[in-house]
Amino acid sequence: MIKRNTGFSNLTAGYLFPEVARRRREYAAGHPDAKIISLGIGNTTEPLSPHIAKAMSDYALALSTPEGYSGYGDEQGNSALRSKIAEVFYPRMADASEIFISDGAKCDIARIQTLFGSKVKVAVQDPAYPVYVDGSVVAGAAGKNNGNGYEGISYLPCTPENEFFPDLSKIEKNTLIYFCSPNNPTGATATKEQLKKLVDFANENGCIIIYDAAYFAFIRDKNLPKTIYEIPGAKTCAIEVNSFSKPAGFTGVRLGWSVVPNELKFEDGSSVNRDWNRVMTTLFNGASNIAQAGGLAALDEQGLKDMTAQVDYYLENGRLIKNVLEGENFRSAGVVAYFTGNGPYVWAKFPGKASWDIFDKILDECHVVTTPGSGFGPAGESFIRFSSFGHRADIEEACKRLSLLKL
Ligand code: MLT
Repeated sequence: MIKRNTGFSNLTAGYLFPEVARRRREYAAGHPDAKIISLGIGNTTEPLSPHIAKAMSDYALALSTPEGYSGYGDEQGNSALRSKIAEVFYPRMADASEIFISDGAKCDIARIQTLFGSKVKVAVQDPAYPVYVDGSVVAGAAGKNNGNGYEGISYLPCTPENEFFPDLSKIEKNTLIYFCSPNNPTGATATKEQLKKLVDFANENGCIIIYDAAYFAFIRDKNLPKTIYEIPGAKTCAIEVNSFSKPAGFTGVRLGWSVVPNELKFEDGSSVNRDWNRVMTTLFNGASNIAQAGGLAALDEQGLKDMTAQVDYYLENGRLIKNVLEGENFRSAGVVAYFTGNGPYVWAKFPGKASWDIFDKILDECHVVTTPGSGFGPAGESFIRFSSFGHRADIEEACKRLSLLKL
């Protein structure tokens, strides 16, 4: 018999969002009249921009003609889209040879782990998007869960006490550092000064940063960096992963990209970009050509305007949620809500309470699904994440119910 990959036996729980969905289904089965509203997974809800949808529909229809048909494309992505992403998001910071188109940031994060193998040391912000940790466990770069997290992973607490920026001195040399900004789940968005500290630390200590910028489009504060490449020195220490999911509503369409600078090197001086090219051409077969047509439309003048409008809509939802969490019922229970206005998540602390208990209480009393902070790591305990993705009427109804929650 073939032995099981120990990475899977080391994983302690199911992936966070299916577990949230399972609890929701179980609750709904026992309460068929409950009109449940989800402020759980960050899944987009608003219709695609007609401009972007038309580009995809035109492309799809053309596939039924001899002139318009195309089969496999370049595994690294359509060259026009690679150039456009470089031009729009990374002017003077990256060129097309450094941009790789994919089926989304989550898939890239998983594939990136093949670049570093099972011997790499890993550090994550705590709390963090679960793919960094779970993916590292599956890849064998982390061991068993000892109750405080997985062995081999350095958890870097990011809490209100340190303004959600980790103590970098806790990171060993030659470590792969996952860093997400605007952060999922806390919403904290690193300043230029903070990112400079991170970049300098990585360069001085032989570390590589996997910079998850999937929520960059939510940044409204003009002083905050939208990409790590705004920081001098980032090209020798950082890979950026990014996505059309949240700004363009492509969570189901699937389209993302990674930036792997030509200057980035392994210990032996070999090129990370060249190995990433090998990963993408060997383990991936190119993003959907229809989705890439949508990506190109998203980056023209109209597309960019439409994406900004969609993100503004979700940001307003976030403000409504934050306001209700500052109501008397929450305040008197000591609840503190964090919402930066530069990300889609509201992160709230319920002092002295376990995250899953609060999750169950809100589900039971308000019929609102949230995400328990402890699902993002040990430092997320006692927190709840509220997602601002939702139709406005649902958000308003959820806020009404939350305002009546007895804590
Ligand atoms: C989240 O809710 O954390 C994310 O939307 C899930 C994802 O992007 O995979």
